[in-house]
Amino acid sequence: MAQIVFDQVTKRYGDVRAVDDLSLAVGDGELLVLLGPSGCGKTTALRMVAGLEVVDEGTVAIGDRVVNDVEPRDRDVAMVFQSYALYPHLTVAKNLEFPLRQRGVPKEERERRAVDVARTLGLEPFLGRKPGQLSGGQRQRVALGRAIVRSPKAFLMDEPLSNLDAALRVQTRADIVALQQRLGTTTIYVTHDQVEAMTMGHRIAVMDHGRLQQVAAPQELYDRPGNSFVAAFLGSPGMNLIGGRVAVEAEGGTAIRTAAGDVLLQGAQASVASHHEQPVVLGVRPEHLRISPGGALEGTVLLVELLGAETQVICELADHSRVVVRQQADQARPRLGEPVRIAVEPAAVHLFTEDGSRLEEKTAA
Ligand SMILES: Nc1ncnc2c1ncn2[C@@H]1O[C@H](COP(=O)(O)OP(=O)(O)O)[C@@H](O)[C@H]1O
Ligand SMILES: [Mg+2]
Repeated sequence: MAQIVFDQVTKRYGDVRAVDDLSLAVGDGELLVLLGPSGCGKTTALRMVAGLEVVDEGTVAIGDRVVNDVEPRDRDVAMVFQSYALYPHLTVAKNLEFPLRQRGVPKEERERRAVDVARTLGLEPFLGRKPGQLSGGQRQRVALGRAIVRSPKAFLMDEPLSNLDAALRVQTRADIVALQQRLGTTTIYVTHDQVEAMTMGHRIAVMDHGRLQQVAAPQELYDRPGNSFVAAFLGSPGMNLIGGRVAVEAEGGTAIRTAAGDVLLQGAQASVASHHEQPVVLGVRPEHLRISPGGALEGTVLLVELLGAETQVICELADHSRVVVRQQADQARPRLGEPVRIAVEPAAVHLFTEDGSRLEEKTAA
């Protein structure tokens, strides 16, 4: 069993809490994606598992063993970096063998396992080349090969695709998913790219400013973000967030009054937002807005972006905030500067408090 458990882990650099009270359990065989903006503490968290950073508070465990005081080489994890970190003077074969050589594996077994891994990753034709004679994608494959060659307890991958071009990134991320699935090795995969996270992770742990925001399966994270940070970070672009106040109307209906108009709430949402005048943030994804004459919100078209199958219409509201409306390419496109009304799909509304926490729907009793 090689689960990885962070228990109330904190790491400081001077006054900065790079990782702040992190508790997170990565299951045996799981591919967990650590997602968040640059500087949120992803690399620091990963390096503490690898033993490259000292843990200030709390414990990190690999399998059943707390590893806070275990030397990096005795942790039996393999790290893959954005920068590949290959030995330039060694051939691909020797690079692949390197972790085995360090562990005193005999020459013949070393060579056999290096060839096996090369075959798995389509690297056989390049065994005799040096890293400088490979493309970026091939180099990253060698780096992956070097991680898997000694069958470690866990893979730790830190933005391994960042240096690849877009097409190769898409292909390599599918390869990594397939490889991880086949090997069943516990993996922590760090990225700031939410598309990578959504497509790769069994679960995604979202961090911001050193703190864990939410951990959930990709679809659940997208459908039920636990706070407005997660809501806005996931999706491209993220969820629209519109400030407003609860308005309980005389007829008994509940609406969110925004600078651009009143959005009527339905069922569960209405029961959550029952405090008249309470300030709230209304969240709605671009695919749940529609340009429509009867729409609740009033805006002006700032920009129309054609993406092929879809069009993104960026509108400015009365308070100068912006919302993105996603529509199919075959729908009528509004003109720049045109005043429009925007309809909100009532069932797709999320509500957050001013400080960003989700207002929980009351479950029907
Ligand atoms: N060696 C270091 N010395 C001082 N501050 C650091 C060091 N490493 C990281 N930090 C700081 O810790 C925070 C988290 O960094 P990092 O873990 O690299 O974030 P991420 O990988 O999510 O981009 C940042 O504020 C960063 O500036
Ligand atoms: Mg990093």
